[in-house]
Amino acid sequence: MKQALAAAALTLLVSAGFLLWIAEDMAPRAEFVAHVEPPQAAETDYLRAAYSPLHFRPAIETAEDAQCLACHREVLEDRVRAASPSGLKTETLRAWYQETPTYAGEQDTFHRRHLVTPLAKRLMNLRCNTCHQGHDPREEAQGAAADSARQDDAGFTLRKQVNPETTCLKCHGQFPWQLMGLPGPWEAHKAAFGDNCLNCHAAIRTKRHEVTYLNAAEIEQAGKEGADACYGCHGGRSWYRIGYPYPRTPWPDMPAEVPEWAKNRPTQSEARFLGGVAQGTRP
Ligand code: HEC
Ligand code: HEC
Ligand code: HEC
Ligand code: HEC
Ligand code: HEC
Repeated sequence: MKQALAAAALTLLVSAGFLLWIAEDMAPRAEFVAHVEPPQAAETDYLRAAYSPLHFRPAIETAEDAQCLACHREVLEDRVRAASPSGLKTETLRAWYQETPTYAGEQDTFHRRHLVTPLAKRLMNLRCNTCHQGHDPREEAQGAAADSARQDDAGFTLRKQVNPETTCLKCHGQFPWQLMGLPGPWEAHKAAFGDNCLNCHAAIRTKRHEVTYLNAAEIEQAGKEGADACYGCHGGRSWYRIGYPYPRTPWPDMPAEVPEWAKNRPTQSEARFLGGVAQGTRP
């Protein structure tokens, strides 16, 4: 009996001692340094970056430019060489596109000419995903595998990162003088029309450019100064041999009869660019 009591007392003592010891151990330690995951630099994991969800739909549809530029700064920062590898200075050379009257400044890169040059910023509001609608780094052809883009997916063009027919052609196609009833190409007849498109277009197809990627009000302003700005996107910088089949947006006083060439035209701009932007209200 005595023995059992002594054992119980001992157990109690030992447990109390333990509890005290544990409590003491749980107190914060002055020398403790918490573990923090080192920040993962995007470039260190090439594969993860190349397969960034931002390269695919649906994420690319809502991507902000800043998200793309976090990895692709070179797109806006790279500049053309000051001299060719054989030593010819850029400033002494002319490219065909530098002949257009609206061309300002030195030669510049493709991306910069569409995103940051003064003319681009004035007339346009292009975003990375205006042109880039997604690409698969592994498979550059549609319909090639069960998990690749569908064969009829026009946003995904064979071995290209953008679809030229739905982007470039809009602003780099031919001037369709035939369907305007003009006697011939603009360059040959512009004098007869006062070198100004608005002589006709103040009343014809007046609902135009009301899309998120263009600055409609600025374009109209530039058109008042002469035909060069308008013609720049409608024949003046063309390398295609065709024109873009623009939507034929109904305008006030539009004739009821639809001309033959316009029978298959849409009557509004692509839905993804509508965004409820009214002419003249862009900041
Ligand atoms: C996390 C970093 C990261 C982000 C964010 C990112 N990219 Fe990329 N991107 C890469 C890497 C890495 C590659 C592969 C580059 C290569 O193989 O040359 C790549 C490839 C590309 C290519 C193809 C280049 C080629 O020559 O094959 C395009 C076009 C592109 N990205 C556009 C975009 C756009 C547009 C966005 C935004 C919607 C974007 N990227 C967001 C890292 C990124
Ligand atoms: C006017 C259309 C257009 C816009 C706007 C545009 N791109 Fe591109 N981009 C292209 C074309 C065309 C290519 C070449 C594609 C090919 O080789 O198939 C390209 C190529 C690229 C490449 C591959 C590397 C290179 O420099 O050739 C990257 C990366 C890229 N774009 C990122 C971007 C990012 C980021 C933005 C937004 C800041 C952007 N692009 C805006 C049309 C555009
Ligand atoms: C919304 C209209 C628009 C679209 C879409 C567009 N461009 Fe342009 N492009 C312009 C304008 C405006 C300029 C002149 C910019 C300037 O002079 O600063 C230009 C200039 C150019 C130039 C000459 C300038 C240079 O320095 O390289 C090339 C080449 C070019 N575009 C190619 C393309 C290609 C390829 C595409 C399709 C991926 C495309 N553009 C899509 C409006 C557009
Ligand atoms: C003599 C009058 C006249 C002049 C000058 C004129 N246009 Fe037109 N334009 C028309 C007519 C008419 C149409 C077709 C209207 C319709 O849809 O029935 C048209 C249609 C267009 C279209 C739509 C083409 C399509 O495929 O849907 C564009 C773009 C255009 N004009 C741009 C211009 C530009 C840019 C200039 C100046 C460089 C210009 N026009 C000068 C009369 C003119
Ligand atoms: C920065 C390039 C650019 C400039 C500058 C420009 N356009 Fe356009 N224009 C476009 C594009 C792109 C479209 C197709 C827009 C859409 O519906 O997505 C278009 C569409 C049109 C249409 C068809 C509109 C419709 O929906 O029926 C006419 C007409 C037209 N432009 C005339 C002009 C005239 C006139 C000027 C000068 C005042 C001019 N454009 C200046 C790029 C341009």
